[in-house]
Amino acid sequence: MAHWDSLYIYYISGTGNARLSSEWVAEEFRKNGLRASVHQIDRLENISMPAANEKPLIGFAFPTHGFNAAPIMLRFIAGFPRGYGKEVFLLNTRAGMKLSRIFMPGITGLALILPAFLLYLKGYRCIGFRPVDLPSNWIPLHPGLRTKVIESIITHWQPVVRKFAGKLISGKKVYRGLFSLPLDLLVSPIAAGYYIGGRFFLSKTFIANSNCYNCGICIKECPTASIILVNNRPYWKLTCESCMRCMNLCPRKAIEAAHGIAAGMIFLFSLANGWLLMTIAGKLGIAEGALWWKILTQFIGIGVMVAVATVVYLAVHYAMAFKPIRWLARFTSLTTIPGWRRYRYLKNKRQ
Ligand SMILES: Cc1cc2nc3c(=O)[nH]c(=O)nc-3n(C[C@H](O)[C@H](O)[C@H](O)COP(=O)(O)O)c2cc1C
Repeated sequence: MAHWDSLYIYYISGTGNARLSSEWVAEEFRKNGLRASVHQIDRLENISMPAANEKPLIGFAFPTHGFNAAPIMLRFIAGFPRGYGKEVFLLNTRAGMKLSRIFMPGITGLALILPAFLLYLKGYRCIGFRPVDLPSNWIPLHPGLRTKVIESIITHWQPVVRKFAGKLISGKKVYRGLFSLPLDLLVSPIAAGYYIGGRFFLSKTFIANSNCYNCGICIKECPTASIILVNNRPYWKLTCESCMRCMNLCPRKAIEAAHGIAAGMIFLFSLANGWLLMTIAGKLGIAEGALWWKILTQFIGIGVMVAVATVVYLAVHYAMAFKPIRWLARFTSLTTIPGWRRYRYLKNKRQ
């Protein structure tokens, strides 16, 4: 017998997949006469919480980023109050693809077990773990999928998500998301690296090209308020989570991933990091093979990478006032290639 009388789903969604999944689940609950509401957690502002007399089932839906839950969702869960009922579920959207007729899954990593653990520490029990492989939105890595493929993936997944909701409604527990645990644990070092450093590097790979006319949509819609105007051009702060909302919403396709600049950053990082480590090791007489030094160098490397990316990004940002630099940034970016689609399945402003 279920312990709850309503459903609250808290979601964050860069390009709409987690929102869509949340809505499917909520619809199933409503069909069964239960009160259900979905709440976006953008900027962690204006979020409704259940009333004191309610006993809700609480769901958290979010995209998988770097084999982990989207950082803003981890922050939300870490600050989530204790005592709203007992049971929760987790739904992570992943990078779904379709090769010929085969639906390809994404990889969860820590995206389910870490939030479940945080919630467990707060006295909640996770009764549903559901990965959902909706169309991949990682546009700097690959062009957006074709509309037909997107529709096919969505048609394939809608009943799966509704069935998941049905099971929860009938009091069953769903542990589907834990089946891939061995692989998920295997990629956990990458998840840690992404969380500690990789995501900050990625935040410094977005630029606005000369199609940008400062309409302000990206600034207004960014779920982490990470885009500001610097020198009258959009500038991505380190808090950007690369959720892809800006890039996909921009009406003029003016937002690019600057692959050429990123490659330059990696080159400079290798030089700076190599020089720094050699200098420290030489000055302090550290034996290069020492295990503690090998571990420490990883952390130093992450710090140097983020520092180099920040400085180069700022320099390039100002240099973009000059036409040759704008040209270079634009034409060394893969996302400018004609036919490099954005992911635009959901066109609503609020994702
Ligand atoms: C920066 C970034 C990192 C991602 N990392 C992963 C990942 O580790 N595993 C995965 O399956 N999908 C990954 N994806 C794909 C998204 O999780 C996937 O497209 C998701 O469905 C997007 O949901 P949304 O539309 O609600 O934002 C990543 C996407 C981005 C932009």
